[in-house]
Formats: sequence, C-alpha cells, structure tokens
Amino acid sequence: MMFSYQSLPILLSVLLILSYIGYQRFFSPLARIPGPFLASLTSWWLVSQTRTQRYHRISIDLHKKYGPIVRTSPNQVSVSTAQLVRQVYPISTTAWPKSDWYRVWRGPRKLDLFAGQDQKMHKQQRKFVARAYSTETLKDLEPYVDNCLQMLMQQLDKRVGHRVDMAKWVHLFSFDVVGEITWSANFGYVAAGKDDGIFASIQTLGRSGSWLGHVPYVYYVHELLKPLIGNWLGVGERHGTLRDFAIRETARRRQNPGGKRDLVNRFFESHEKQPQDFTYTDVISMGTAQVAAGSDTTAASMNAIIYYVLKNQSVKSKLVAEIDEAWMKGELSNPVRQDEAAKLHYLQAVINEGLRINPAFGMDLPRVVPAEGATIEDYYLPAGTVVGMNAWAVQRDETVYGHDTESFRPERWLEGDTSDMFRYFLAFGAGSRTCLGRNIAFQEISKLITTLFLNYDMTLADPDRDWTETC
Ligand SMILES: *[C@@H]1O[C@H](CO)[C@@H](O)[C@H](O)[C@H]1NC(C)=O
Repeated sequence: MMFSYQSLPILLSVLLILSYIGYQRFFSPLARIPGPFLASLTSWWLVSQTRTQRYHRISIDLHKKYGPIVRTSPNQVSVSTAQLVRQVYPISTTAWPKSDWYRVWRGPRKLDLFAGQDQKMHKQQRKFVARAYSTETLKDLEPYVDNCLQMLMQQLDKRVGHRVDMAKWVHLFSFDVVGEITWSANFGYVAAGKDDGIFASIQTLGRSGSWLGHVPYVYYVHELLKPLIGNWLGVGERHGTLRDFAIRETARRRQNPGGKRDLVNRFFESHEKQPQDFTYTDVISMGTAQVAAGSDTTAASMNAIIYYVLKNQSVKSKLVAEIDEAWMKGELSNPVRQDEAAKLHYLQAVINEGLRINPAFGMDLPRVVPAEGATIEDYYLPAGTVVGMNAWAVQRDETVYGHDTESFRPERWLEGDTSDMFRYFLAFGAGSRTCLGRNIAFQEISKLITTLFLNYDMTLADPDRDWTETC
C-alpha cells in the first residue's frame, strides 16, 4: 500500500480518537462502571438528556437498566441507593464540595447559598441568614401566607362549578407568597390572574442552567462573547431579570422599614450588625434566591399533591374525612394554621408522599469526591470524580420506601418504622447544604392543601388524562 503524506493528519486523528475511546472504555478509573456507551465518552450525552426536560424520568430508567451506580459522563456517576445519601451529603464542613455544575448558576455573585462551592464560606454565609429561616420566624410569616390564601379563595369562589386551571392559580399563589414573606410586598398575581413575565424567566433559567452546568465552558465562552452576540443563555436571568426584580423590591422595602417581620427585615438586621461581611448586595442576592428557588418549586410540589390526591378516590376520601372531622371538632381555623395542620397525620403523610414521588428538583445534585477517594457500590472512585444523586430515583429505592414506589400511597408514611424514609429523603437535598427554605415550603404546602380541601370539593376535569410532570 502506498503511503501518502496527505492522509497522515487523518490517520493521526483516527488514532487519537481511538485511543481516547480506548482510554475511557478500558483504562479510566470509571471504566468498569456500567452506563450508556456515549455517556462514557462525552458530557454532551448528559447535556442532550437534560435538554429533554425529562431527566428525572431518564434517571429512574438508567438505574433500572444499569443498577444502583451508573456512569453518566466521562468523570461522573449517578447513584440511586438511598442508604448512601448520608455518605454523599454529610452534615459537616468537610462535606463533599459541590461540583462545577453549580458554577453557571452562581455567575458573578459572592453570596450564593445554592451554588457556592466553598464549604467554609457557605457555613459562614449561612449563619447570617439562619435566623431568617428558623422555625421561630415561621410564625411571623404565617399571616402573610394567610393574606395570599384569602386572595386565592376570593378568586376560586368566583369560579365554583366551573373548570379551573388549578396549576395556574397555585403557581400565581406561590409567587405572591414569595413577595409577601420576603418583602411584605403584594405582587397581586392572584388578584390579576396572571404574572408579568417572570415565570417565563424562571423557567428559562432552570432549563438553561440544568444542561449548561454539565459543560460550564460553554457558559464562559458565552459570557466573553456576550457583547458581540447578545444574551443567548437563559441562565443569565438569575444575574439579570431576577436580580433586577430583587434590587427593585429590596430598595422599595428599605425606604419603608415599618415594623414588618418579613425575611428581608431579618436580612437587614444581619446586615446592620456586620455590614462588611454581609453586604447590601448580599441581601439582594438572598432576595434573588427567594424568587428563583421559592416559587416554582413549591408550586410544582403543591400541584403534584393535589393531582395525586384527586387521582385516587380512596386517598381523597380519607384526607377530606380527616380535615372535616377536625373542622367539626373546632380544631381548624380558616385559612388553616400550620400548627393545626401539623396534627393531621394523614395530611402530613399525603404531603410527604407527594414530595417523595414528585420532588420539585429533577436534576442530580452533583458532589466531588474528596482527596482520599471513596468506595461506592463496590467501585473505587478517585478524588475529583463527580457523584450525583437524584431525588426521583433515590426516593424510589424499594429497600427503604417499599415495593410499590411508583404508586402514590400515603399510608407508607404511617406504617411501621419510617425513620429511614425520612433519613434518606432527598426532596430538599440533604446534609449541610439542605434547602434553607424547607420549613417555609412545608408550612406553605400544609396550609394550602388543608385550606383547599376544607373549602372546596375538587375533582379532576379530565380524570383519564395523565398530567405533565414538572420539576
Ligand atoms: C389508591 O390509594 C390507596 C390508599 O393509599 C391504595 O391502596 C391504592 O392502591 C391506590 N390506588 C391506585 C390505583 O393507585
């Protein structure tokens, strides 16, 4: 065979590609871990899966097909074993740091409790806002939620007997709640029956950040070229539209301090004590976080709960019976108070079950294996390997949650020893990075669900239609 110099570059490229594939398949420390072929070669596989917006389901299917540990990217694995939640997400400052996936969410901010990667810094920052998110603050926030419930009921009362798009109303409600509890501001979305474009921004942000995080360099190149090409990536909303929103509301709130006991009031208190360490800009970042993380997620959870309850007549009857009985005994206010709802055991089981089967966050929560490496599911993972767990998959682990994890069965939370079910719950994350707004969300969900089923007899307009999962 004649050898021509023109073909040399081609030959070399082919060799290079083959040796790359050979390395990833046979020599990489993760080579033995099962998973899709393309996933072992490039992180763009994970990008393509994320962009379908059904990654939560894909994750469940991956684990069904490949087992409790799956290689989802050349340097990343997904783990679905519930008992490992405490290993991957421990409660300590030496916890495994968040991976670069979070970088694009953070953008240029200093304080970012969701996306910050530095554990020590996170611990410090969390102290400034801990009081705002404590259980004692919850009581002060409750009247704000009641205001929103009253407004929601006014709207629903007008529509009794008609088809109502509950998902829309619950979404508007959740956003009004964020305004009330954060800035004592009434956004009036429920009153108007619509938002002013911010829902779209939040959704674009979530969609864009989810896939970009797997290829952060795309984000950096985009940021560099932005003056030339304009803003193409929705993740910028977190640093743009949503932040502008928080800047406006925080400024407004500062001019009108009053005696209000909302969240920003607590943030300002921390700021006044330590203005250098917890700056006005940080207060705004907390506001942005409230908007970005506090509305869509809670709305998705509340809607899932309503849907699943209405879908199963036996669940609905039990729930309504429990609520009606408490009402007859004079144990409920209207709107229902948090401490009253907390005593309704079936209701609490319904909420837990909703958050189990349909957690609001559908992505893996990726962490980096620390210097000493880790052994997971009998595979050794060297330092730097990214490990993620997905609440949708974890909360379907049958060894912890029971054999019928695909069905909505609140009773599982009332039978036998449920401590492990709580221990490995991942709907709000786990360990030292658990969602700060967890108590607030739980209060809002409890109040809304109880109040709705106390006041209205809801049925599905199209009982045979399945719904579109959102997370
Ligand atoms: C409805 O709920 C009950 C009680 O949780 C459960 O036993 C039953 O299997 C559910 N039915 C369906 C079709 O999921």
